[in-house]
Amino acid sequence: MWKAIILIGGPEKGTRFRPLSLDVPKPLFPVAGFPMVQHHIEACCQVPEIKEILLIGFFPLSDELKSFLEYAKKQFTPSIRYLQEYTSLGTAGGLYHFRDQIGAGNPSAFLVFNADVCCNFPLQEILSFHKSKTTDDGITIVATEATQQESMSYGCVVEDAATGEATHYVEKPETFVSSLINCGVYAFSPKVLQYMENVFKEHQSERFDSGDDNADQSFSERISLEKEILNPYAGSGKMFVYKTKEVWGQIKSAASAIHANKLYLSLYHKTNPERLAQNSHKQSPTIIGDVFIHPNAEVHSSAVIGPNVTIDDRVVVGPGVRVSNSILLPGAVLKNHSCVLNAIIGWQSIVGDWSRVEGTAHQPDPNAPFSKIISDGLFNEDGRLCPSITVLGYNVFIAPEIIILNSIVLPNKTIQSSSKNLIIL
Ligand code: GDD
Ligand code: GTP
Repeated sequence: MWKAIILIGGPEKGTRFRPLSLDVPKPLFPVAGFPMVQHHIEACCQVPEIKEILLIGFFPLSDELKSFLEYAKKQFTPSIRYLQEYTSLGTAGGLYHFRDQIGAGNPSAFLVFNADVCCNFPLQEILSFHKSKTTDDGITIVATEATQQESMSYGCVVEDAATGEATHYVEKPETFVSSLINCGVYAFSPKVLQYMENVFKEHQSERFDSGDDNADQSFSERISLEKEILNPYAGSGKMFVYKTKEVWGQIKSAASAIHANKLYLSLYHKTNPERLAQNSHKQSPTIIGDVFIHPNAEVHSSAVIGPNVTIDDRVVVGPGVRVSNSILLPGAVLKNHSCVLNAIIGWQSIVGDWSRVEGTAHQPDPNAPFSKIISDGLFNEDGRLCPSITVLGYNVFIAPEIIILNSIVLPNKTIQSSSKNLIIL
């Protein structure tokens, strides 16, 4: 029996994802029509040995989270539970804190995922690899190639090409270490939890030695998976690298959500072809490339949609509308002849007649084969907003006949005039 654990973080995380993470916990943000973590859950459901999926994070149990969990419990076969950390315990602190629940039923291995990554998760292969390489205290780390410059924004792992062993691991190094990067997907043998106990005990004695009785309770329990587990594990003969050449990306900013949307839509050809819209008959809109349209959305037959578009629940798209490379979130309305390119349109937002909402697409460098999207901050060195995807937060109203270019509009705004490269507060 195997288990899967998804690290979903908490409300202080996802700052690059604002304003979208103001209205929904980031792991529930819909990408290609489904909450980000549902893609992980669906991949786990393809592996019959996975009997339980645990979401670990420090989000309060909000209505959105509750209703997602209820839906997931009904929809999927493995048992699905949310384990809430009392504060941010770091990427391994939650694993240690909930070790009894993770170990219950004696799983022979458990998979661990970062919630904010997107890929096609070749889980069966990863588990077979893990069984073939490691014993009861081993780690398999899934890694992919990145360019030299990009690699430094990730965990970097050095591999012994002959054995597949991870000989060195550095989290977000300042100088180049390796172009092989940590994908945020791992397989752990059960005894790794015991190793975490040693780290916990070291923290406790540090806390004791410091003589600071007021030190935060969570001090000992806060453990970084990358720095305190993977780093010392590398070179010990117990950590192995599973290399993947499949599509992979991280979801940190709005631009990377658009890119992830494209990746998941392209994966639907293989995993869920029925989710892709077709040019079926005269009464349906013109579809270009990969498009997901929610069954409850209304899209006018004269609209032209795609490529890489998700039209979510209860969205209304009027006559003559053009949408490409965008996500329209539940309840958004695009009025007649409006145009939305490279943008995310927030829940219940309205784009007026003949208005144009456009952003600048971020594409990984097509000439660099392993290039990824880099989600740097929103601003460049002179403090100006970098041209990127346009984002309308929740319940924004864009008046007719205006242009919003490369801008971020915070929730509940009414926009009456055109804007370019602005954050509208
Ligand atoms: N439960 C819990 N508790 N989860 C957490 C916490 C915490 O205190 N802190 C972060 N997470 C979750 C996040 O929600 C995310 O899914 C994952 O852990 C990693 O988040 P970050 O700590 O923000 O790291 P990162 O995304 O910058 O880098 C990590 O992922 C890269 C791949 O996307 C590292 O693992 C890198 O080495 C890796 O390359
Ligand atoms: P390439 O992508 O370089 O081929 O250019 P394009 O001619 O497709 O133009 P662009 O990328 O600017 O626009 C994408 C689509 O949106 C095109 O099919 C345009 O016809 C359509 N489009 C552009 N502006 C508007 C607009 O203001 N309103 C509407 N309804 N459609 C528009």
